[in-house]
Amino acid sequence: MTAPPTPTQTLADRLPRHLAIIMDGNGRWAEERGLPRVAGHRAGADAVDRITTACRELGIGYLTLYAFSEQNWARPPEEVGALMQLLLEYVQKERAQILDNNIRLSAIGEIDRLPLFVRGPLRELMDRSAANTGMVLTLALSYGGREELVRAARHIARRVERGELRADAVDADTVAAGLYTTDLPDPDLLIRTSGEERVSNFLLWQLAYAELHFSPVRWPDFDRAELARALAQYGARERRFGLTSAQVAAGTPRADRAAPKETARPC
Ligand code: IPE
Ligand code: IPE
Ligand code: MG
Repeated sequence: MTAPPTPTQTLADRLPRHLAIIMDGNGRWAEERGLPRVAGHRAGADAVDRITTACRELGIGYLTLYAFSEQNWARPPEEVGALMQLLLEYVQKERAQILDNNIRLSAIGEIDRLPLFVRGPLRELMDRSAANTGMVLTLALSYGGREELVRAARHIARRVERGELRADAVDADTVAAGLYTTDLPDPDLLIRTSGEERVSNFLLWQLAYAELHFSPVRWPDFDRAELARALAQYGARERRFGLTSAQVAAGTPRADRAAPKETARPC
């Protein structure tokens, strides 16, 4: 049951600032209807439109959608090709809705691996919407959490090699600064659809203290009612970040947030 908001707590306080979604179940949705898997991906694109609109209306600041993983490149070439084509169609179709609704489109992952016919229009819309302030919509494309951490580790190692950074000065902020998500707060809530209960290489670092919600609904069927259910459950949870309930109630600061530190000293 959802606890009612306390007088000082508005609905907005209880909404996740950053919602991340693993949009899973497109293939099964199609197969269950005797349709080719690509029909599920097509229906999944409509769900993206629906849920983006809902989140924008609700006032969620950051929405991050896992659209294509690094590991998804290993799917049959016809499916990968169809997904790339759908991504292009998504960028073309959603252009007006993104710009008219003051949404900033962003992407994380190895974007350079996407074929040029997708990358070009995607980057163009990202640039065009860069100054928008209503909501940040981030697509994870050719994204893998382990790959992202390896990339960050290489970046740090290079800085140490060049003598710009002492190994002892490497801390959580240094690692976070090497990730794709430097402009994003950590997700508060992760939803995965279609009944699977795993993170499948998504935002491994950033999800450290996210609340997890697993919905049995296939992504193409995910609607406002199902989103509202997830948000209501999120709103009723107590996030403790390692503290006790009493400490949370007393407003004790979170221990996972780094204290302001002195500027990193060179070697
Ligand atoms: C999610 O749906 C979309 C992508 C991974 C691109 P799936 O294609 O994984 O659907 P299922 O899990 O096979 O049903
Ligand atoms: C995760 O779903 C990736 C996306 C939703 C884009 P997968 O369907 O690829 O994950 P697994 O294979 O079930 O772990
Ligand atoms: Mg899947």
